[in-house]
Amino acid sequence: MKVLMVCLGNICRSPLAEGILKHKAHENNLRIEVDSAGTAAYHVGNLPDERSIEVARKYGIDLTNQRARQFRLQDFEEFDVIYAMDSENYNNILKLASSTSDESKVKLILNEIEPNSNSSVPDPYYDGDEGFENVYQMLNLACKEIVLRLKK
Ligand code: 4NP
Repeated sequence: MKVLMVCLGNICRSPLAEGILKHKAHENNLRIEVDSAGTAAYHVGNLPDERSIEVARKYGIDLTNQRARQFRLQDFEEFDVIYAMDSENYNNILKLASSTSDESKVKLILNEIEPNSNSSVPDPYYDGDEGFENVYQMLNLACKEIVLRLKK
C-alpha cells in the first residue's frame, strides 16, 4: 500500500500528515509507504515549515528528513491513495488525472473522519502556532482512522 499526502506547498500540512501516518503505521506494525507532495512548486527542496517541525516534535515525530517536492503525473501510477488536504488541492489533482482509475485514487483526507463532509484542513501558513496545533489534531484523527481501516 502506498499513500501520498498532498497540500499546496508541501511544507505545512502534508509533511505533518506524512510524519503522523508513518509514525502510526510503525506503531501498528503496518507496512505501508507514505510520501507527500505539493501542487505548487514554490518550496521545492525546502524543509517543512519550522512550525510544523515543532508541533510534530512535541508529539515525538521527526519531520527533518523531509524535503518538499511537487506533485507529478507519475504519482498516479505509483500511489494507491492520494489524500488531498483541501478542496482546492483536490480539484487541482483531479484536473491532472487522465483516467477514472487515476480519479478514484484521489480523496479528501478529512472525509476519513467525517465521510462526505468534504471539509478542508485549513492552510495554517499565515497563522500562529495554534493554527499548526489545530492542523496536527485534525490530521492525527484522520491518520488514526486510516490506520484502523488498513488494519481490517
Ligand atoms: P501547505 O501551506 O500547503 O500546507 O504547505 C502553504 C505553504 C506555503 C504557501 C501556502 C500554503 N505559500 O503561499 O507559499
